[in-house]
Amino acid sequence: MRIIQPPVEPFRIKVVEAVDRTSGRERERLLRAAGYNVFGIPADKIFIDLLTDSGTSAMSDRQWSGMMVGDESYAGARSFYRFEKAVRDIFGFAHVIPTHQGRAAERILFETVVRKGDAVPNNIHFDTTQANVEVRGGRALNFVREEAYDPEADLPFKGDMDAAKLEAFLARNRSRVPVVMLTVTNNSGGGQPVSMANIRSVGAACRRHRVPFFFDACRFAENAYFIKRREKGYGSWALRDIARKMFSFADGATMSGKKDALANIGGFIALNDAALASRLKNLLIVSEGFPTYGGLTGRDLEAMARGLEEVLDDRYLEHRTGQMSYLGALLEEAGVPVFKPVGGHAVYVLADRLLPHIPREFFPAWALTVALYREAGVRAVEIGGVMFGKKNPKTGAETFPRLEMVRLAVPRRVYTAAHLQYVAGALAAIARKRERVRGFRIVEEPPFLRHFTARLEEVDS
Ligand SMILES: Cc1ncc(COP(=O)(O)O)c(C=O)c1O
Repeated sequence: MRIIQPPVEPFRIKVVEAVDRTSGRERERLLRAAGYNVFGIPADKIFIDLLTDSGTSAMSDRQWSGMMVGDESYAGARSFYRFEKAVRDIFGFAHVIPTHQGRAAERILFETVVRKGDAVPNNIHFDTTQANVEVRGGRALNFVREEAYDPEADLPFKGDMDAAKLEAFLARNRSRVPVVMLTVTNNSGGGQPVSMANIRSVGAACRRHRVPFFFDACRFAENAYFIKRREKGYGSWALRDIARKMFSFADGATMSGKKDALANIGGFIALNDAALASRLKNLLIVSEGFPTYGGLTGRDLEAMARGLEEVLDDRYLEHRTGQMSYLGALLEEAGVPVFKPVGGHAVYVLADRLLPHIPREFFPAWALTVALYREAGVRAVEIGGVMFGKKNPKTGAETFPRLEMVRLAVPRRVYTAAHLQYVAGALAAIARKRERVRGFRIVEEPPFLRHFTARLEEVDS
């Protein structure tokens, strides 16, 4: 057997948190009670939690010490100015507006600029981004390059937007496009990066048509690392300079600090347009808080400021992306099909290929998340028909997204190589008895973001 080398952690462990194992019978009971939705299972009943990389990072000693010096003043806190400086130094935008997390930044931006019938192009919208556009009566359009949907296309920048399609769309619909977004890395399309060349083209198209261009910048550091490694001309650049250059083509960004700010909560909007910034701040005050805290404590702002300083570190990002390559290689070795190449924050299993006996209407990726918890107490998330499918309210017919995947999102600095081996082993065991995995049907669902709270039942085989 081929020995697959794990990446070596560029840190040592100073604080540990015990995790409990559960019995198969207990997991069965918990699944039933949760309506076979792993979002409904208490976290202390999860052995390895790969539900999300969002807000689940282990903070560094520097971040924890920063929290002790957080300034909790209502207005003008020292921590805000530190945070503002950290964001400005990397993003280069003039105005920095903190929010309690990424979707609050999206809501405030879209509530201010999107009107009914407007269209917002993106490479692929994340679920909250799509929901925040649609709640305003807007259309969330995905213009990612066609190869993004081919799980076998092993390309360096599968997150790129189809810039020609964007250009053509803007030429016809410019007046109904309040903003163009670009998600780095492209979470809903396999965590794939966007190249600098593509960022430049999208920025140029937006400038030509005078449409503001914003990043959804949650994983900007992972994206910058991929540019350094994969795009010609950037190999000797400092990661901070790559990030600065990425943002230099845009007018602003929304960001969830729960990803590449290495914090457990927080987010922000950063932008250059002073008039728009003041409209956003008006809405911020109504719902999130005064513009120097935006729903966060001073210590949260400190944690984000220090996280942003730490994240653009070559050794950290080499290990981080190395963890995904390692997990992906173990799965491939075990015959579990994965989306290629592996992304920056997650490995995506191709559930419809692993479980070809389950038709799309019985949600094979959902079935795999249940099987993984059942098998080993590992929690992952479905990125498929339940998350992105749509039910026709009149006929009840479902339309399905093009990819049916399970995302194994790896929290930052939390799990070791042995944990990843355990996860790969559990999926290998499922693969060996795959024909025993059954599909699911939805029995209860809310109107938006149904995957969070839907209840399902197992379909008889
Ligand atoms: C690409 C992307 N955009 C936006 C968000 C929303 O951020 P938050 O969970 O902080 O609201 C997420 C969260 O996972 C994301 O991955």
